[in-house]
Amino acid sequence: MDREIEIIAEEMGTERDKLLPFMQEVLRCKNYLSEDSLRDIASAFQLSSAEVYGVASFYSFIETSPPGRHIIRLCKTVCCDLKNKDLILHTLERHLRIHLGETTADGKFSLLSTNCIGWCHESPAMMINDKIYTRLTPESTLKALEEWD
Ligand code: FES
Repeated sequence: MDREIEIIAEEMGTERDKLLPFMQEVLRCKNYLSEDSLRDIASAFQLSSAEVYGVASFYSFIETSPPGRHIIRLCKTVCCDLKNKDLILHTLERHLRIHLGETTADGKFSLLSTNCIGWCHESPAMMINDKIYTRLTPESTLKALEEWD
């Protein structure tokens, strides 16, 4: 078992209700939860890897593949959906030449969706890393990408 995961297990314990915070703690040490990490977490919690992967994949903030340097999270919840979220998604996919859930070939951007990020009144909205972008249009979306090296 990975030493960092072992230490987290010693510090936090491995009761079932600690699984999500445990994963978040592992993510603080590692960029994403690799197959090895998921297996180690499963072993620590005495769960199957499938159960642990099921929890990890449910939450959009838990990465299970190596993320790009910048993570785009486009809101997929109802207000943004009604305000042309799909147009923004297509703009991003076309410009970055990737689909939702993928990372650009140069490793610069990962494109993910997320549930509501609290800016429904200014939808459609997305985050790039921790920065929020609202009232998105195709033009403002492309401009937002230019801010990131
Ligand atoms: S529904 Fe998109 S920010 Fe709330």
